Formats: sequence, structure tokens, C-alpha cells
Amino acid sequence: MCGIVGYIGRDKCIPNIINGLERLEYRGYDSAGIAYIKNNKINIKKVTGKIINLKNKVNLEEDSFIGIGHTRWATHGKPSDINAHPHQVGKITIVHNGIIENYEELKLKLNDYQFKSETDTEVLAALLDKLYKKYNDMVVVLNELPKHVIGSYAVGILVEGDNKLYTIRKDSPLIIGTSDNGNFIASDVPAILKYTNKYYLLDNDEYAVINENDVIIYNKGKIITKKINTYDGDINSAMKNGYDHYMLKEIHEQPKVIMDTVSEYINNIDKLNKTFSFIDKYDNIDIVACGSSYHVGILGKYLITKYSNINVNTEIASEYRYTNHNYSKKHLIILISQSGETADSLAVLRNAKENNIDTLAIVNVISSSIAREANRVIYTKAGPEISVATTKAYSCQFMVLSLISLYLGLKNKLLDLDVIKEYKKIEEYTNIALKDDEIKEIAKIIHNKKDIFYIGRKLDYALCMEASLKLKEISYLHSEAYAAGELKHGTISLIEQDTPVISIITDDNIRLKTLSNVKETCARGAFSIIISNEKVEDKSIYNKLIIVPKTIDLIEPVLVIIKCQLLAYYIAKLNGCDIDQPKNLAKSVTVE
Ligand code: M6R
Repeated sequence: MCGIVGYIGRDKCIPNIINGLERLEYRGYDSAGIAYIKNNKINIKKVTGKIINLKNKVNLEEDSFIGIGHTRWATHGKPSDINAHPHQVGKITIVHNGIIENYEELKLKLNDYQFKSETDTEVLAALLDKLYKKYNDMVVVLNELPKHVIGSYAVGILVEGDNKLYTIRKDSPLIIGTSDNGNFIASDVPAILKYTNKYYLLDNDEYAVINENDVIIYNKGKIITKKINTYDGDINSAMKNGYDHYMLKEIHEQPKVIMDTVSEYINNIDKLNKTFSFIDKYDNIDIVACGSSYHVGILGKYLITKYSNINVNTEIASEYRYTNHNYSKKHLIILISQSGETADSLAVLRNAKENNIDTLAIVNVISSSIAREANRVIYTKAGPEISVATTKAYSCQFMVLSLISLYLGLKNKLLDLDVIKEYKKIEEYTNIALKDDEIKEIAKIIHNKKDIFYIGRKLDYALCMEASLKLKEISYLHSEAYAAGELKHGTISLIEQDTPVISIITDDNIRLKTLSNVKETCARGAFSIIISNEKVEDKSIYNKLIIVPKTIDLIEPVLVIIKCQLLAYYIAKLNGCDIDQPKNLAKSVTVE
């Protein structure tokens, strides 16, 4: 989604802002722009497409020391130079992340303004200009703003004739970075890491006035003191480290980050019990999330149900928030989110809190909105995930649900402590799963097919959904995931000679059932690829067999998904796709 960077200080602002925008590229965008003040005059440059186009359009050596920049992911109006930010109206120039829901109503009221773009942001700029004309004081204007606006916003603001940087946020992420050489605003920490690892987090409706030496933060008209956070992560962990793409680097980080996520619990069963015993209070759990995080939730539903008596329901957040729910007295909602900013998941969390339902968040980005607002949070330790397509965060999210299931299984005597030995072998198992020679070979055979199907049952079906999403989002091939038994109820009509059908088969209890579905597809000419944790005796039912190490169901899904992530990666690479920033997609979906 949109990225904001702003700077005021002793350095020339344009290189700092462009560098920050490049660090936010992973969020996904379709146009970019910058506004800077030089000789008291605001200059604006905007481009459609990549930041390199913007870099080519500006003079990096310009003597300007205050500016704001933006990468836009289109919501209101197509990607174009006119719709790109910054937007200037009267004395006000802004960049904005979020959605102004009442922008049409505001536009009618602001009938003395002429609008050039189709965006809600230009309307916000006009509103700010109108309020500024009235109060002539940006602190008063920013205090007033929330009374007029419905929606979400993180805004960077320049005012003509005033050498300060202003910002305000509600429901869209924004940090303020501080350094000896000046101060920053940004949508996310990587944007400022080249210059500083110290930052403030703004809460809803807080706003700030920033100059080169000071950051003054306000809440409801009063100056407040906020804690400065320090980001301890290594900046290199946010770089490619010699890999062709962030996605490949992140796939290969899985042995380490998975162990980082589980080791403190598997090496200390008391800690496992202490951390997860709160689950005993609940008889119903709703797991709610979007995209890949939702797919992890489906895996969690199978495992928690298997190892406890708790009723578990997994739903997509954008559906859940608008449907009715019958909550039991002992109800828990688990939100899963890599970014911790996904708008629909955040809305479900806030609704839950209004209804006094307990919430647990499983989140990767520290201090993100979902992490801060949930009753409890368990962090995945995936580290910064830059590639839009999630890989390592997905696996770490799964491992947290695996730990919850482990806790329940041990408590309910459905598992014994011997399983811990398997967790200790995760690094070895995942390193085996990362071997990719056969995957590259298969990618060469199927990369130009028009449809690719995944089939499986139970956990394997949930893995199929994620495998298929991975393929669609980065390679732009059509792919579908089907519950293996469902195929014959319609979709089998699409299987033609050489249509790739990838079957995931790891569950011994239903192995024979899925194998018979594989036979049905072979009879229709499918190019059959089986991913399994054991050999398949009947060689006539597959063209390719991919074996992953056999272990427990609390671990096996990550071994399977690594193979599927690699397959999607190599297919996308052969097809020349923009792997880390697939078209139309954003890393952090902060709009509904
Ligand atoms: O940040 P979140 O985990 O809440 O994001 C949810 C989805 O947008 C996300 O998982 C998306 O489906 C992935 N980019 C897919 O790889």
C-alpha cells in the first residue's frame, strides 16, 4: 500500500526521501512523487511507474532541506501523474496513506475549490487549506481535522511559507524518526534505517510539528511526551544478501526464523505451558485473517481441533466483520497478520473489543496496530519480510499455531514429550526441503501452462490453497486449489491432456483416498506431480514425485510449503515476472 517518507534537517532532503521510498517499495505501488521546499517555494514532481522514473526526474543535488515523498497504490482513480501524490491545494501540499470515506460529501461542501484529480487525497488537501485559511495555525487545524473526516489517514504536510513538516495519523501506520542530522516521517521503519534506528510511534489522532531539531507531538491540543523506540534489527537483514530476489532470500531464511520462533518454547516446557495456558479458558476460537494468514488459520483449525475439545472456526476477515456471530461466554478471537496493519483484520479486532471478546494477535511487525490493540500478542520472529508474497512469515505464523496445538496436545495427553525431538530437527528438515534441483526441472516443464491445479485433503488442502495463491500472485498463472474429493463435482471437466495437477499427500489416514483422486485426474490426461512424505508405489500415477521429510503434522506443513514456494518462485522467474513486487499487489493492505 502507499508509502510515505518526509524529511527536515541539515542534509539535502531529496536523496533521503528517495532512499526511504526505495526501502518502502516492498509495500507495492504504481506511481510516486515528491514535494520539496526551495527558496520558500514548493516544487512537486510526480511519475507513473517505478521510483527510478522519479529519480530520473529530480535533481538529487537540489538545495532543499525539507520535503515529503510518496509511493501510491491506486484506490480512487487510476495510476497516473495527476492522481499521484503529493497533492497541492492553496498553501497546503500533502501525501496521504489511507482512505477518506466521506470524501464525496466533503467535496460538495468544498465547492469553492477546483479539483484536478480523482483522488480523496486532493479533497483532504482542500479541507486542510480551508481550515488553515480559517485558523491560520496548523496546530489548531490538525486538532480540528478528525472532526471533519471519516476514514483512515497518515498524512505528511508542507505549508507554503512555513518551514516545518506536519503529520497526523488515524488507522494508517506512521512513525517519526529522529536523528542528529534531522527528523523523518515514514510509513515503516526500513525507510529511515539508513539514517537512524530511533523513532516515535504516533497513536490515532495524534499529530506533530517537526523541524530540524525538534519533534513536538500533540494529542487533543496538548503537547505530550512519548517514548522513543529503538529498532534493534540488522539493516542487512532487510537487504537481498546476494539472492536474486527478496522472495528467494526469505524462503532460504526459514530454517533460522522458524527456530527463532519456536526455540524458547521447545527448550523450556514451563515457558510453553505458562505462555499458552490462557487458552484453557476458552471453548470456542475464531481464527480470523486475510490471504496467506487466513490459510495458516485453516491449518490451525485442523490442528487445534485435533488436539483439544475446543470448537475452532476460521474465517476471512473481510467476511467475518460483516457477518453475525453467536459468541459463547468463553470465546477467543485469534487475529493472524504479518504486517499487523491489515484493515479488515484490524476492524475485526476492534469489533471484538467492543463486544468484550478476548483477542490474541499473532503478528510479525512489532508495535503494529494489531499488536498494540489486541489483549495479547505473540510475535512471530520472521524478521522484516520485504517480498510482497509472504513465505517466512507464513511459516512462522504456522509454527505459533503449532505451539498452541503442542501445548493442548501435551495437556490432553494426545501427544507426549517425545515430539519435542521432532521440533529440534526442524532446521535439518527445512534444509532438506530447500533442495530445489527437481523443482527447477518441474518449473521448466509447467511454466507456460495456462491452468495449474492443486489438490489435497484436510491439512494438505489448506496447503494447496496457499501453494495456489503463491503461484497466482507472483507468476500470474491461473491456478486453483481443490479439496481432492470435490474435484469430481465439477472442476474435473477442466482437466485436459497435460494439465498440471499437483497433489499434496502427507496424511496417512486419507492417503488412499487422495491417491484415488490422483488416479481420476491421470485418467483425464493430467500431468501429475505428487508432493508427499513417502514414496508412492504406483509409478503410473505420477510424472514427478517430490518427497519431503516425514515428521509430525505439527511440522510437516512448513516442509511442504517450502517446496510450493520454490515452485512458484522458479515458474515466475522463467516467466520474467516482477517477483518481489507483483503487479496490483501491496505488502500491507491498509484499506478495506
Ligand atoms: O499482513 P497480513 O498477514 O495481515 O496480510 C494478509 C494478506 O494480505 C497477505 O497474507 C497476502 O495474502 C500475502 N501477500 C500473500 O503472499
